[in-house]
Amino acid sequence: MIGAGAASRMLVFLFLFFIRFSDSEIAAGVVASSSVGYDHRALLIDGARRILVSGSIHYPRSTPEMWRDLIQKSKDGGLDVIETYVFWNLHEPVRNQYDFEGRKDLVKFVKTVAEAGLYVHLRIGPYIGAEWNYGGFPVRLHFIPGIKFRTDNEPFKAEMQRFTAKIVDMMKQENLYASQGGPIILSQIENEYGNVDWAYGPAAKSYVSWAASMAVSLDTGVPWVMGQQVDAPDPVINTCNDYYCDQFAPNSKNKPKMWTENWTGWFLPFGGAVPYRPVEDIAYAVARFFQRGGTFQNYYVVSPLSRLLIYHGGTNFGHSSGGPFIATSYDYDAPIDEYGFIRQPKWGHLRDLHKAIKLCEAALVATDPTSSSLGPNLEATVYKTAGACAAFLANRDNQYDATVTFNGKLYHLPAWSVSILSDCRNVVFNTAQINSQTSSTEMRHLNSYNQTSDDSLDSSEMPQSQWSYAIEPVGISKADAFTKTGLLEQINTTADASDYLWYSTSIEITGDEPFLLNGTQSNLLVKSLGHVLRVFVNGKLSASGMGNSYNASFSLQKLIMLAPGKNAIDLLSATVGLQDYGPFFDLWGAGVTGPVKLNGPNGTLDLSSKPWTYQIGLKGEDSRLYETSDDSSEWVSDSTLPTNQPLIWYKTKFAAPEGDGPIAINFTGMGKGEGWVNGQSIGRFWPTYQAPQNGCVTFCSYKGSFSSDKCLKNCGKPSQILYHVPRSFLRWGSNDLVLFEEVGGDPTKMSFAVREIGSLCAHVSELHPAPLDAFITTQKRGKSGPMLRLECPSANQLISKIKFASFGTPHGACGSYSHGKCNSSTALTVVQEACIGARSCSIRVSTEMFGDPCRGVTKSLAVEVACL
Ligand SMILES: *[C@@H]1O[C@H](CO)[C@@H](O)[C@H](O)[C@H]1NC(C)=O
Ligand SMILES: *[C@@H]1O[C@H](CO)[C@@H](O)[C@H](O)[C@H]1NC(C)=O
Ligand SMILES: *[C@@H]1O[C@H](CO)[C@@H](O)[C@H](O)[C@H]1NC(C)=O
Ligand SMILES: *[C@@H]1O[C@H](CO)[C@@H](O)[C@H](O)[C@H]1NC(C)=O
Ligand SMILES: *[C@@H]1O[C@H](CO)[C@@H](O)[C@H](O)[C@H]1NC(C)=O
Ligand SMILES: *[C@@H]1O[C@H](CO)[C@@H](O)[C@H](O)[C@H]1NC(C)=O
Ligand SMILES: *[C@@H]1O[C@H](CO)[C@@H](O)[C@H](O)[C@H]1NC(C)=O
Ligand SMILES: *[C@@H]1O[C@H](CO)[C@@H](O)[C@H](O)[C@H]1NC(C)=O
Repeated sequence: MIGAGAASRMLVFLFLFFIRFSDSEIAAGVVASSSVGYDHRALLIDGARRILVSGSIHYPRSTPEMWRDLIQKSKDGGLDVIETYVFWNLHEPVRNQYDFEGRKDLVKFVKTVAEAGLYVHLRIGPYIGAEWNYGGFPVRLHFIPGIKFRTDNEPFKAEMQRFTAKIVDMMKQENLYASQGGPIILSQIENEYGNVDWAYGPAAKSYVSWAASMAVSLDTGVPWVMGQQVDAPDPVINTCNDYYCDQFAPNSKNKPKMWTENWTGWFLPFGGAVPYRPVEDIAYAVARFFQRGGTFQNYYVVSPLSRLLIYHGGTNFGHSSGGPFIATSYDYDAPIDEYGFIRQPKWGHLRDLHKAIKLCEAALVATDPTSSSLGPNLEATVYKTAGACAAFLANRDNQYDATVTFNGKLYHLPAWSVSILSDCRNVVFNTAQINSQTSSTEMRHLNSYNQTSDDSLDSSEMPQSQWSYAIEPVGISKADAFTKTGLLEQINTTADASDYLWYSTSIEITGDEPFLLNGTQSNLLVKSLGHVLRVFVNGKLSASGMGNSYNASFSLQKLIMLAPGKNAIDLLSATVGLQDYGPFFDLWGAGVTGPVKLNGPNGTLDLSSKPWTYQIGLKGEDSRLYETSDDSSEWVSDSTLPTNQPLIWYKTKFAAPEGDGPIAINFTGMGKGEGWVNGQSIGRFWPTYQAPQNGCVTFCSYKGSFSSDKCLKNCGKPSQILYHVPRSFLRWGSNDLVLFEEVGGDPTKMSFAVREIGSLCAHVSELHPAPLDAFITTQKRGKSGPMLRLECPSANQLISKIKFASFGTPHGACGSYSHGKCNSSTALTVVQEACIGARSCSIRVSTEMFGDPCRGVTKSLAVEVACL
C-alpha cells in the first residue's frame, strides 16, 4: 500500500507550507506591522492566505558568525520562514540568571532572519525534544520539590509560565512579533505532547488546556500552535500527527486543518551508521503532499515534527546533545550541511521544487482539486479555475516508469515521481529528474598548512614534542567527595554538572574468600542504567561497559584480578547526553544503580549496599584545564608523551589553517572524551565507537517508501571521525586545543581538514523538464527544452577544465562517470566551447547539439568540470 499511508508518512519532512489566496509576494523586508490570523483553510497574513515554505535552523547549533550566511542560503533555497526552538537550558542554567550571549543570542538570531526578509516561527516549548540534552529543560527543575514535568502540576507550570513569559516579553520588547512589525508570525507552546499524553492520564487534558490559555494570555498578537495536540483549546491551532491524517478533523470549524508526522528522524547516534535520504524521495513526498491536498477539502501544514523540518542541522557543541548517545555532529543530511555549505544536489533540487510550487500558487489556493486515476498507481490531480490551472501527475509505482495520456498529451512519468504542470500542460518539475548540479565536496586532509604567526607551529601534524599532558587521577581526588551507603542514581547525584560520576569503594582480601577463584580472581558484575562505565581495580582500567542508542542500560561482567590486602574498586560512570524524548523522559536514570557483585564458585560478595564514596566530575574540570591559556603547573611537557592510557588531558597549540572557512579536526587515534578549542567546547568525541558492519547499502534507491534505516552509509567505520571547529572559535596566531581522553588514545595521530570543492557535475537527460527560470522567462516550454547548467560556487572562480563529458548513455556518479555504449564524438568539444573560461555555462541537452549517436535510445549528457 503506497497510498495514504506512505504518502502521509513521508509527508513534508523538511518544509511546511501555508496556503494563501493572495498572489502578492512576500515583502522583501518585514517592517510594517502585519496581522496574522487564520481561517478554516490557511494562515492569513494581512488577510491574505499564503503558501510559505519553512525550514528550521537551530541557532545554538551554529555560531552568530554563521547565521547570516545560513539564512541567506535558506532564502536562496526558497524558504519563507525560519523556525527554531528556544533552548531553555542554555538560557537559564541557574534560576533567574539568564544568558543570551554568543550562540545563545536569540534576539540577534531573530533579527538576522528579519534582515533577510524572512518570517520566524518561534517554538518556545519550553519542552522541545530536538535531540537536545534533557529535551531542553534545565536539569535543576528536577530538584524542585513536588515537581512533575509536562502535566498539571503547580511547581512545573509555574516554571514553564515564567520562562515562556520571559521569552515572549523579550521578543515584545524588541518588537519582534509580526503584530509589532517584526518577523515572528507563529509561536509554539509545548511540543509533540500528543505523542505521550496518554501516559499522563486525565491530568494531561487539564495541562494542555492550561498551557494553551497561559500562552494565549501572553498576548503576542500572532497565533499559537500546539504540535500534535488533538484537544488543543481555542484559539490555539492543533495539528495532526498520524499516518492517516485524512481521518483527522480540527477540533473547531474555525481552525485550519493541519497535518504533522510521526517520524523517528535520521539523526546520527554514536555507534550508528550515517543515515541519509535521497532528494528525489524528499521531493516526491513534498509534491505528493500538495497533490494529496486534492483528497482533502482544506488543509495546510503548520508544524510537522521538528526533526522533519531541519534545513540546517549543525553541531551539538559542549554537552548539548540529547540522548542518550546522540553524536556531536547534527548534520542530518540537511540541504545545508553541518559546516554551513550547500549540500548538492539536495539544496538545488528542493529550490527547484519550491519554485515549481510557487508557480502553481494561484491555482492551488483558489480552488479545490479533483483527482482521477490514469491507471494502476497513476494519479492525476488538477486545480483549475477560470484564470489558472495546475496539475500534479504521480506515478506511485516503486519500480516501473510509465507513460500516461493527460489532456490529450503524452507524459513520461518515472517510477515513484510526481510531475508538476504549472499550467496543466507543461511539466515544470519532476521529482525524480534532477537538473541541479552536484558537487563532490570533501573535507581535505591537511598535510601541511602555512603558519600564521607563531614560528614553532610549522606543520599540521601535531608533533609529539608540542603536546603537554595532565593526568586525571583514578578515583576520588576532589575535596567535595562524599560517602553514602548504597548506590546512587547518577543524574540525581550530579544534576548533570558533569558527564562523570566516580563510585569508589575498597575491599579487603585474605585469599580464601568464597567469592574468589584461585584466591586472586573474581567475576565482577555491575548493572548500570547507562551510559558508559569504566572499571578501575587498584588504579588500573580493568573493564568497560556501555549501552547504546536503543537501550542505555547494560550489565557488565568481567573476571578481575585482586591482590591480598586492600583493593581499590573505582567505577567511573559517564553520561552521553540526557534522554530528550518519551513519556517521563526526565525520570530515566543513569549510572550504577546495581547490583555490584563479586561472584566466585563458592560465594558472592554484594557490594551494592556498602558505603561508597562519590565524586561529581573530574579534577581537571574543576581546575578548568580546558581554559588555561598559560601553561599552568598542572601541565607536563615531557619528551615522551604518554599515549593509549586512560584519564589523561592533552594540550597543544596550533596555527589555524588559512582561509576563512570552517575547519574540522580528524580525531583518528583518539578514544572517547571531549575537546576544546580556545576554551570553547567542540563537543564530545568518540571516534572509536564504530557503526555496525551491516545495514548499509552501496546504492540507495529513492524509489519506494522511506524509513529511517533504509539508506545508511559508513558501516563498520567510526560513527563520527570529523569534528567541526567554526572559524569564529579560532584566532590569528596560536590556538589552544585541549582534549580530555577517557579511555586511551594517541593525539599525535590527529589532523586538521578543510573543505575543498572537488568537481562540479551535472547529469541531465533528454526527458528532463527545462530549467524553471528558462520557463518563467520564455513562458514557452517548447522553446527551451532540457538544459545542463553548471556554475562555479564563488564569483571569482572560472571553469578551468572539463574532466568528463559524454552525450549518449553515460553512467556513474560525480567523480566516477564513464562512457556508455552510446557516445557522441562531439560532446567534449561542445562542452569545452561552452564552458571553459566561464563562471557558468548552459548547454542544451538535445541531438541538435550533439548529433544522434544512437537513434531510438534515450540519451543524456553528463559533465564533470573543475573550477579554479
Ligand atoms: C506515533 O508515535 C507514538 C509514540 O512513539 C506511537 O505510540 C504511535 O503508535 C505512533 N503512531 C503511528 C501512527 O505510528
Ligand atoms: C604557503 O606559503 C607559500 C609561500 O608563502 C605559498 O607559496 C603557498 O601557496 C602557501 N600554501 C598554502 C597552502 O597556502
Ligand atoms: C570451593 O569450596 C570447596 C569446599 O570448601 C573447595 O574444595 C574448593 O576448592 C573451593 N573452590 C574454589 C575455587 O575456591
Ligand atoms: C586456577 O589455578 C589453576 C592452577 O594454578 C590453573 O590451572 C587455572 O587455570 C586457574 N584458573 C583460572 C580461571 O585462572
Ligand atoms: C536493556 O538492557 C538491559 C540490560 O542489558 C536489559 O535488562 C533490558 O531488558 C533492556 N531493555 C530493553 C527495552 O531492551
Ligand atoms: C531521584 O531522587 C528522587 C528523590 O529522592 C527519587 O524519587 C527518584 O526516584 C530518583 N530518581 C532515580 C532515577 O533514581
Ligand atoms: C582521518 O585521518 C585518517 C588518518 O590520517 C585518514 O586515514 C582518514 O581518511 C581521515 N578521515 C577523513 C574523513 O578525513
Ligand atoms: C566516447 O567518445 C569520447 C570522445 O569522443 C572518446 O574519447 C571515448 O573513447 C568514447 N568512449 C566510448 C566508450 O566509446
